[in-house]
Amino acid sequence: MELKDAIITRRSYTKYLDKKVDLKLIADILNTAIYAPSSGNMQNWYIVLVDDDDKREKIANASLKQLWMLQAPIHIVICDKKQDMKRMYGKKADEFGLQNCAALAQNILLLATEAGLASCWVGSFDKEAVSRVIGASPNEEPQIIITLGYSNDNPKSTRHELDKVCCFNNCGARIKGFDLFPLEKYTTKMEKKMKKESKSLFERIKKLFRRSEN
Ligand SMILES: Cc1cc2nc3c(=O)[nH]c(=O)nc-3n(C[C@H](O)[C@H](O)[C@H](O)COP(=O)(O)O)c2cc1C
Repeated sequence: MELKDAIITRRSYTKYLDKKVDLKLIADILNTAIYAPSSGNMQNWYIVLVDDDDKREKIANASLKQLWMLQAPIHIVICDKKQDMKRMYGKKADEFGLQNCAALAQNILLLATEAGLASCWVGSFDKEAVSRVIGASPNEEPQIIITLGYSNDNPKSTRHELDKVCCFNNCGARIKGFDLFPLEKYTTKMEKKMKKESKSLFERIKKLFRRSEN
């Protein structure tokens, strides 16, 4: 599967089949996912795989009672090695720690998709309760849970158009129909300026050519 297809077809699944996932496949996914970037290459993640029924039930309950999570045979709890990060980054530790874990999580989701697995990123949970379930030390703070399994569901989700979530240089500088070409579609003052400039550059090049011909 191409990366682009994995990105576009990945969905959040809340319905899973009663089918286990081969641990070798999970190990393969994780061995690749850990190539995620991390601030200062801290790799501050600690990954806890949970397949125990009782623990998964407790995790689902600690996740605002999202009991659908129980259907997924594996819960991956991504913890942030908080104290290590604090030593390195002080006030920025929590922010960077979470960003690093998020990069890892997205890698896991995409690799799972490529492997034909269904997954869901779960962010709504009681950290202390989940910590107790997995026996986390004070250095390991659960940040993200990923449910993993097989599914025959077909969840749908949509995306905002690029021109509503992207701009050039200044927030709010809207670009209608973000297809870069044709330039006539640009609407903001800045884009008009850019157009003018590129026109004058074109004129200058034309002049240069004429000069070299003479
Ligand atoms: C930070 C974060 C937290 C999320 N928490 C939950 C959650 O607790 N429960 C859930 O069912 N989905 C959760 N999701 C999944 C989103 O609901 C889902 O990504 C979004 O609706 C878009 O759907 P899609 O992933 O299928 O494209 C979370 C996603 C992110 C990135």
